[in-house]
Amino acid sequence: MVDPLLIASHLETKRFNPEVIVLEKTYSTNAVAKDQLLSCTSSVTVVIAEIQEHGKGRHDRSWHSPRGGIFMSIAISEDLIKGNHPLMGILAGCATASAIRDLFGLSVHLKWPNDLLVNELKIGGILSELVTKGGEIIGVVIGIGVNQNIAIKDLPTELRGISTSIINELGHNTSVEQLAAKIINSIDSRFDTFYAESSFNAIISEWKQLGATIGKRVSVYPSSKSDDSFVGTAIGMNDDGSLLIIKEDGEQITLTAGEVFHLRNEEK
Ligand code: BTN
Repeated sequence: MVDPLLIASHLETKRFNPEVIVLEKTYSTNAVAKDQLLSCTSSVTVVIAEIQEHGKGRHDRSWHSPRGGIFMSIAISEDLIKGNHPLMGILAGCATASAIRDLFGLSVHLKWPNDLLVNELKIGGILSELVTKGGEIIGVVIGIGVNQNIAIKDLPTELRGISTSIINELGHNTSVEQLAAKIINSIDSRFDTFYAESSFNAIISEWKQLGATIGKRVSVYPSSKSDDSFVGTAIGMNDDGSLLIIKEDGEQITLTAGEVFHLRNEEK
């Protein structure tokens, strides 16, 4: 069982004093964290589950959530976010990538907006969801999934060849409590910088360093309709986290939502 006291013993937060809830099994930690925000119990609540029965990924996909992974959602109330919702996923992506790098020395990169990659294989992902009540924004839930102690043979066949895990990269089990606490500390320290500088410039620069997308040829899916897709080259990121792409015909596009896939140079 994931030990909440062990997580607490590794916490070194400066800005947040989160309530940490550990569940053995739940539907989706994002759903539980959303309920916590709606019931207004605390400004920052972290929900961690050992197993999710209906883990949710981006673009309405499911997120494979067997024992051994990190399934964590952080509910943050609006007063702490100050309107910067679009950047929450970017912030969490940078924080999680740097936590995995610092603890385990793995070279984690980000595919826009916040897929965590090791050698172009997905090791984790972020699903950030806006929470509203009566039409008013009351906060954000940042859902973080990391394939930590999940062997490749235990991944569904469709994920093999495109995903990896920390145990697969290192060859041994690692502590879920330590990684969960490191991610929370890492998010907290980025909020600390945001409050100190009143800007997300540091996050955007960090993303540009960790990002593997800029400079790549990409196939772009701005919506779920494959008819809208096109190929281009990612040339930069704006201060709001949107991606700048130059299409093959020279037209410049700003992508605020959707998905990109990295292409090898020879791919059409
Ligand atoms: C992605 O598709 O890349 C995002 C995956 C996000 C998965 C996490 S696991 C914890 C939280 N609860 C969920 O149901 N989803 C997120």
